[in-house]
Amino acid sequence: MSKATLTKRLEFCSSHRYHNPQWDDAKNRAVFGLCNNVNTHGHNYLLEVTLRGDIDPVTGMIINLYDLKHTLNQILEQFDHKNLNLDTPYFAKRIPTTENLAVTLWHIFKKHPDLPYPDALRLYEDETLYAEVNESFMNGDLQSSNRESAVIARRYVFSAVHQSRTGNIQGHDYDLWIATKGHISDDTGQVMNLQTVDQIVRAQVLTRFDQQNLSRDEAFANIPVTDSALAKVIWETLAPHFQTPPLYRISVSQQPDAVAVFSV
Ligand code: NI
Repeated sequence: MSKATLTKRLEFCSSHRYHNPQWDDAKNRAVFGLCNNVNTHGHNYLLEVTLRGDIDPVTGMIINLYDLKHTLNQILEQFDHKNLNLDTPYFAKRIPTTENLAVTLWHIFKKHPDLPYPDALRLYEDETLYAEVNESFMNGDLQSSNRESAVIARRYVFSAVHQSRTGNIQGHDYDLWIATKGHISDDTGQVMNLQTVDQIVRAQVLTRFDQQNLSRDEAFANIPVTDSALAKVIWETLAPHFQTPPLYRISVSQQPDAVAVFSV
């Protein structure tokens, strides 16, 4: 039987603090940085949830959009304008990271009697970070310990020029998303420490390409500088540095209407 999917986008605001009570203050600060500040801080989350179901032969819809919005808003009420650590029951033992919040929402959607089955869920903490989960990553439920996997993706921007086929020099502001996929750690609530991701990307990619002429880079000695070729070069550059967890997807774009993706 064929199935259709529908993706709904919603926004909500929550505050949180990252803190592992089993560690001392110094270790918490070292691992979580500013996110460990005693004062909680807030984020405007953007949620994209994709639901899967049959198209009703009478209505032509998987679910009535009005009902869907109502149900999702009802679910999000327990998170919106709340302190995730203190005002919700989900993060007494888990750290309210983007990964753990995405997993929590997934389980709530999955169990909800009025919703079609979730197919995928992407949660943006801001414009530079998102977590993504889908059925194949899940293992266990909200009560069990963290055995789920998630994708975590981080955005970087850099500017570079390259030679076009006609020989002109073109300059672009590149938008780069680095996604890695792995198990969510019980200790940190994270797939990977973001400061580590930043250090690797800065050292391997940004110092090499930012403010440079990409056509002079050895990687482009025999291939034109396209977004797709750049995504592949960045993948090959970063892959040895992302082993646990491994790279999942590299996206490169220099204009809003086109994205080049390289993945395994
Ligand atoms: Ni935060």
